[in-house]
Amino acid sequence: MKVLVTGGYGFIGSFVAEKFFLEGHEISIIDNLSTGNPENVKFKHKFYQLSVEDPMCKEVFQSNRFDVVIHLAAQVNVTKSMDNPYLDAQSNVLGLANILQLSEQYGVKKVVFASSAAVYGLNEEIPLKEDALCNPLSPYGINKWVGEVYCKKWKEVFGIETLSYRFSNVYGPKQGTVGEGGVISIFINSVLAGHPLQVYGDGEQTRDFIYVEDVADAIYRGVQFELKGVYNLSTNTETSVNDLIYILENLANIKKVIYQEPKKGDIKFSRLDNSKMKRDLDWEPLHNFQQGLIKTYQWFETESKKKYLLVE
Ligand SMILES: NC(=O)c1ccc[n+]([C@@H]2O[C@H](COP(=O)([O-])OP(=O)(O)OC[C@H]3O[C@@H](n4cnc5c(N)ncnc54)[C@H](O)[C@@H]3O)[C@@H](O)[C@H]2O)c1
Repeated sequence: MKVLVTGGYGFIGSFVAEKFFLEGHEISIIDNLSTGNPENVKFKHKFYQLSVEDPMCKEVFQSNRFDVVIHLAAQVNVTKSMDNPYLDAQSNVLGLANILQLSEQYGVKKVVFASSAAVYGLNEEIPLKEDALCNPLSPYGINKWVGEVYCKKWKEVFGIETLSYRFSNVYGPKQGTVGEGGVISIFINSVLAGHPLQVYGDGEQTRDFIYVEDVADAIYRGVQFELKGVYNLSTNTETSVNDLIYILENLANIKKVIYQEPKKGDIKFSRLDNSKMKRDLDWEPLHNFQQGLIKTYQWFETESKKKYLLVE
């Protein structure tokens, strides 16, 4: 298959692109390099440096005739979306509309859209099922929710198959320090630099952390088995920030933990029910939190040693 991964030089996108490549598919990537890094993708692929909202994307679709589009490119910073909702909507609404329209025009069979737990916002009736109330707290969450409506309606109006995955907090190697799963990469970077860990609130807040390879696997299987509609992509478990610190302590020397005032607007507990995915796709995550964290820590540790050697 010819597969386009938008945002393919980013954290999740690079794992998704690699999964499809290893399964024998032809990969193209559209990325504007705003947070992505070409170093993240080391296998054969075509690359187009473009924003997904750019009309020039038409030429990429015209000359490639993709079978499948995995749409991961997005403005991912929630705080930025509060400061500049226009910018967020540009990438996350207009960009999606452009990609959906081109997909429909150039015969793409399926579009997978990266939605987010942020669509639920202030709804703590956990574990949250897909039919729970959506009450987003930021333009980022609103635009992911709007994106799901676009996908659903594109199916109804133009007949193109779409699959929206509501990712919980994704973590793993290559992750940056903004975005949604950020706390893990921030903590590991701090530990490796010998800095104290800064916790906002009492550390009892929980998140449903999912390892990035499990996300890539679910996206791949969702395409293979023709899943469609809206699904939580999660582990259906909760890990608190204090649990995370406790597990990290077994891997590294934590200098100090500083507890600060909670961040305004932060939700306390988060966990997404994944029984619909388990039932319809016969899928479940292969990594428990400890396994994923060890892999992640080891990757960051190796990278920091490489940087140290370069400086030496
Ligand atoms: N990381 C998480 O925990 C998480 C949770 C829920 C949803 N998501 C979604 O998953 C997707 C991937 O996120 P990530 O964590 O890998 O972030 P990331 O910042 O590492 O990746 C985003 C990629 O998209 C590119 N990009 C951004 N805006 C673009 C635009 N307008 N046009 C073209 N390229 C653009 C960036 O350069 C980057 O390579 C995003 O849609 C994000 O909203 C992530």
